Amino acid sequence: MSGSSSSREPIGVIGTGYVGLVTAAGFAALGSDVYCVDIDVEKVRGLQEGRVPIWEPGLEELIAEHRERLHFSTDVAAALEHARLLFVAVGTPPTYSGDADLSAVHAVVDAMPSSDRHALVMKSTVPVGTGESIERAFAEQGKGGFRYVSCPEFLKEGSAVRDFLEPDRVVIGDRGDWAGDAVEELYAPLDAPVVRTDVKSAEMVKLASNAFLATKISFINEIANVCEETGADVVEVARGMGLDDRIGPKFLQAGIGFGGSCFPKDVSALKQLAGNSGYHFQLLNAVIEVNELQKRRVMSKLQKYLGTLVGKEVALLGLAFKPNTDDMREASSLVLAGRLQADGARVRAYDPVAEEAARGLMSGVDFSDSALQAIEGADAVVLVTEWPEFAELDWADVASRMRGDLVIDGRNALPGDGVRAAGLAYEGIGRR
Ligand SMILES: NC(=O)c1ccc[n+]([C@@H]2O[C@H](COP(=O)([O-])OP(=O)(O)OC[C@H]3O[C@@H](n4cnc5c(N)ncnc54)[C@H](O)[C@@H]3O)[C@@H](O)[C@H]2O)c1
Repeated sequence: MSGSSSSREPIGVIGTGYVGLVTAAGFAALGSDVYCVDIDVEKVRGLQEGRVPIWEPGLEELIAEHRERLHFSTDVAAALEHARLLFVAVGTPPTYSGDADLSAVHAVVDAMPSSDRHALVMKSTVPVGTGESIERAFAEQGKGGFRYVSCPEFLKEGSAVRDFLEPDRVVIGDRGDWAGDAVEELYAPLDAPVVRTDVKSAEMVKLASNAFLATKISFINEIANVCEETGADVVEVARGMGLDDRIGPKFLQAGIGFGGSCFPKDVSALKQLAGNSGYHFQLLNAVIEVNELQKRRVMSKLQKYLGTLVGKEVALLGLAFKPNTDDMREASSLVLAGRLQADGARVRAYDPVAEEAARGLMSGVDFSDSALQAIEGADAVVLVTEWPEFAELDWADVASRMRGDLVIDGRNALPGDGVRAAGLAYEGIGRR
């Protein structure tokens, strides 16, 4: 996809992480000159030299293809000079209380000059009311002319480039001024349904969407647990449920719980937001608790087969919070490795792309160069992240390399019959 840079509005992007880089590359592909800003000097230097700091399918190629329209700096001046719209994609991680940490967002707001020509376009996920408080801050700082638009991001890591280019919808929350119109115009070539609404509703669409998806996951995980008690098979159950078009098949894969940079923090931020506003969001408490317990179910399955875990060798296949990303934020593997080590097991691990990110977060884990190397001499193998290559393993070969015979399929992604045919014990989640 390409366009003429002269006919497209140049933009600024503040924060060049997963969302910022995809947004920047996507708009560059649509023909905009994009002025990217980040406070991470190393990251910016790398980007200036053509190095992409994250692993996201298609992103490196898209950046290389539209290199001439992408400008990287640690200084916001060029973005302010060339662009009216400054997309904000800085992190909003959870605080200890579970609220969103908005310090990076506030740093951006404070760095903006007084201007009647610019608008902040919020892509970062923020609590409902953030836009209003930013507008108040602008007014207090004598920058009342600065416009504000909420434009939440719905991309999924692993398919983020496609999600940018083919979004299910574009949500724009604004006050009906030039800035909202300009954002809508930017997205027009994607031909996606546009939800043009007020700022607070746009902020809530994002939080509610993630909370709903997380609820669907915790729901099917609880169904899986009841399946285990009653002899039903959750994969069959999910197939039967998912064909109902009121339910749909997505996010009905039972497993060892959700992780990642968004669901855990956004669910907890919405719960906190509700609580801070005087409403007790009961359902979300359950969603969070079910997810925590689900990560630990692997431990009871291991103990059921192996007895004590002291001295046992456990191989973790996959570490990233989901396939097709190197993102380790809130990955189930972190909880699992910690629990296993606390119970005296030795942990080996393999992930096709997340090893480097994982090394800094996991101590005492033996990292392997391949799945087969991790499996060598293991008492049990646990599939943590469903990278397609794990489903392709030669299970007879796996069986010959293991010391024990237990395979726990934490994502119901392995061929159970094939694993059993190799003489191994197969344990899925909620499976017969
Ligand atoms: N990752 C996702 O899948 C996803 C999807 C939808 C929405 N979001 C939301 O988008 C936001 C960004 O997420 P991410 O995963 O891209 O985060 P990230 O941590 O990958 O990137 C954030 C970037 O912002 C930079 N930054 C921090 N403070 C800055 C400042 N003052 N000025 C300039 N740059 C600054 C950081 O150095 C970093 O490069 C979060 O609010 C997140 O919840 C993320």
